[in-house]
Amino acid sequence: MGRIIGVLNYKGGTAKTTTVVNLGAGLALRGERVLCVDLDAQGSLATYLGVHYTYSLAHLLLGQANPRTCIVRARDNLDLIAGDEGLLRAEGELWRIDNRLIARRVLVGRLQGLEDDYDYIILDFSPSASLLSESGLLYVRELIVPVAMNYLALIGTRQVIQTLKTIGRVHGHRVRLYLIVPTFYYARLRKDREVMETLQRYFADKVTAPIRASVKLSEAPSHRMSIYEYAPKSLAAIDYARLVERVFRDGQKRAKV
Ligand SMILES: Nc1ncnc2c1ncn2[C@@H]1O[C@H](COP(=O)(O)OP(=O)(O)O)[C@@H](O)[C@H]1O
Ligand SMILES: [Mg+2]
Repeated sequence: MGRIIGVLNYKGGTAKTTTVVNLGAGLALRGERVLCVDLDAQGSLATYLGVHYTYSLAHLLLGQANPRTCIVRARDNLDLIAGDEGLLRAEGELWRIDNRLIARRVLVGRLQGLEDDYDYIILDFSPSASLLSESGLLYVRELIVPVAMNYLALIGTRQVIQTLKTIGRVHGHRVRLYLIVPTFYYARLRKDREVMETLQRYFADKVTAPIRASVKLSEAPSHRMSIYEYAPKSLAAIDYARLVERVFRDGQKRAKV
């Protein structure tokens, strides 16, 4: 059964989608079967990978399509369920369900069973604490939190941890805070080194090596490419490959247990 990993921070622009794309693409290149699911109405995941689709996650949530019709192939071993502004309407429909607990479990019900077909299912969260985000948290088992090098992102991380506690208490669903990924890192800035030290003090070995700030990473989406396609020799490709390796190895260890 595959790992179900969410990529979340309640702050926008912390490189969530960039991390989903390049972690997913990297694991796929490693031969793992990967499904990425976009929970963000901004719908950037399909755009970043240059994928065309007919049915999105919104159709799935509304019961207008089944998972098989929503899944599109993005690359070898890499599939995707797109998100778009239709998610806002779908979320509106979820709010109409009187029983909030049932509403929150609709997504889990729709995605159930897919973990048998994939080694990794990776969810790209929106930065808001919406009903859809809560639904996503009931589906994922592990969380990766990308943290941009500033104070606000640290606060966003704290909010994530609070939410995980609530999910455990209210819904009895345990989500493991798996990795903290420092992003937009400039080693020569003292501020960035200090944020890094703070993270390590709080989260110890959950903190990965940082993803450095990189023009290549900011350019890759407009070319609809992962970093390995756009600039395979760049520092950014090395940084993300290192993250892929860590996640892959942990997956291997887990499979042996
Ligand atoms: N390490 C990085 N260095 C430079 N630009 C980056 C880096 N990571 C992401 N970006 C760019 O920053 C912007 C926000 O990233 P994105 O992944 O969309 O954030 P989020 O999904 O958290 O809102 C995008 O334009 C992306 O290309
Ligand atoms: Mg995003």
